[in-house]
Amino acid sequence: MDDELAVTGALNPFSPGAGRPPKELVGRTQELDAMRTIILRTAAGYTNRGLIFSGLRGVGKTVLLHRMMQMAKQAGLMTFRLEPSGSYDHDVAALTKDMERSIRRYRRAHFQQRAKDVVERVQSLNIQTPLAGAEITLHAPTPTDSALELEIAVEDLSEILAEEHSGLFLFLDEFQEMDTRLMGTLIGLQHRLGQDMLPFYIIGTGLPNLPGVLTASRSYAERLFEYHEIGGLSDATVARCLQETVEQSGQRFTEEALNRLVLDAQGYPYYLQAYGEAAFNETTSNPIPLDAVLAGEPQALRILDNGLYDSRWQRSTQLGRQYMHAMASLNTDTCDTAAIADALHRKAHDLTSVRKNLIELGLIYAPERGKVAFTIPGMADYIQRTNPADTLPYDAKNGVSH
Ligand SMILES: Nc1ncnc2c1ncn2[C@@H]1O[C@H](COP(=O)(O)OP(=O)(O)OP(=O)(O)O)[C@@H](O)[C@H]1O
Ligand SMILES: [Mg+2]
Repeated sequence: MDDELAVTGALNPFSPGAGRPPKELVGRTQELDAMRTIILRTAAGYTNRGLIFSGLRGVGKTVLLHRMMQMAKQAGLMTFRLEPSGSYDHDVAALTKDMERSIRRYRRAHFQQRAKDVVERVQSLNIQTPLAGAEITLHAPTPTDSALELEIAVEDLSEILAEEHSGLFLFLDEFQEMDTRLMGTLIGLQHRLGQDMLPFYIIGTGLPNLPGVLTASRSYAERLFEYHEIGGLSDATVARCLQETVEQSGQRFTEEALNRLVLDAQGYPYYLQAYGEAAFNETTSNPIPLDAVLAGEPQALRILDNGLYDSRWQRSTQLGRQYMHAMASLNTDTCDTAAIADALHRKAHDLTSVRKNLIELGLIYAPERGKVAFTIPGMADYIQRTNPADTLPYDAKNGVSH
């Protein structure tokens, strides 16, 4: 790479990668409006439903969640967050810790007087401060009472925040990963506090199976949340995003370059960022020509394989990989489980546990009974294009292959 291209690369405005905020977040007006509505209603003292956003991998759930959390913070609401690990004890401790952090920051940022009240109330619930009025430590609770402590703290904070026409917002990414007991506790808590007109809301994101997982946990979850599916972007939105992103670096794409990138992106935000980044790296010309897009395509595929596909593939067991190979060979978005079994010369019920395991790993989901689909757009193409090995050694403990 010559010096000029190296500088171009360093100033690349695209951001392919899990959870990497894009320079231009596009096509999510409706979702952001839903959050804006909750913020306004909370400030007006009205109650709300929580929000759930579900979608395939790489469509932009995490960056949307972060954006919403920023909005809530900027509006002076109290926020805390978690990406569940699946372990009850770990996640309760992590939630408690993040709540502690939020209380501190809330106090520092604004609302000094109100935060003083919070301190006193939290103290009265056995959540001690090392130095009264200075710093709060929500003591690491014992496993048995930890969730109860957390519930009490949430209720207490919600009461105080309600008086201020503020609210407590819990942001949960990959919500479907949460231990079922903790999920039930948190949903139940939002339900109960809602009945008391207390402003505690969950804003959660997850894979397409998330709404079903929540309803299985608590049947009233259906009424407790407003559900949004996060899908791909229209071609016009992709084009606008590409153009506005490079404009931030004082550049433009030619029309031919833009048309090709729109084809490459297929409406999928992760692809948009990967192909945009690769094209940008290929040239110092302005406007960026079609040649740069074409020259960048192999690089974009490498970004996608490294960032999106390889690691997911490696998470699976040998049988899981054979199952995914069979899915890819069927050449349909949604695969019949019986057809997969046929392709593997197995009986469908012999494959129940491997299917369950792939669902638990978040690699596939069941859009309807008897069907499965990849959670990662383009996974079938990746499998057919690279023919990744089924037989790499698998480290079940760490979920990785060597
Ligand atoms: N609305 C958007 N506009 C432009 N780029 C976006 C948008 N949403 C996401 N992206 C880009 O797409 C990529 C994937 O985003 P993100 O990690 O939020 O997806 P995700 O749905 O959380 O994926 P996963 O299910 O794997 O966690 C990132 O590179 C991000 O910058
Ligand atoms: Mg994510």
